[in-house]
Amino acid sequence: MSPFRLDLAALALLAPCAALAEDAPAVPASVSTCVSCHAADGNPLVAGVPILAGQREDYLQSALKSYRSGYRKGGMADVMEIYAKELSDSDIEEIAKWFSAN
Ligand code: HEC
Repeated sequence: MSPFRLDLAALALLAPCAALAEDAPAVPASVSTCVSCHAADGNPLVAGVPILAGQREDYLQSALKSYRSGYRKGGMADVMEIYAKELSDSDIEEIAKWFSAN
């Protein structure tokens, strides 16, 4: 994805929120179960949990789909499989947009 398209995604996310609140934009509901480990902005304080902030949107989508299908194994993948199994395709799109724009 080009930097231009990323900027558009960030604007699309932030613009409606800016009208509602001057603080940080509201965290989408699909992200709420991820916050305890990855933090709302994708910069976790927990050791061993990967940073998601600023990661490419297409990579986040493929990582989540690989955990959901059980294809991605090893390391702490079993933990992620539990959470990814609860996600729909549209949840994954929303989550990937959120963290890539942070
Ligand atoms: C209990 C803690 C925990 C929760 C809750 C959690 N994760 Fe994770 N996540 C991890 C750990 C640990 C890893 C590393 C897994 C591995 O070794 O593959 C990870 C890996 C990932 C990765 C892959 C990162 C990369 O660089 O490849 C993504 C994407 C991700 N998580 C997204 C999410 C999302 C989205 C949610 C919520 C639906 C979530 N996680 C909930 C702990 C958690």
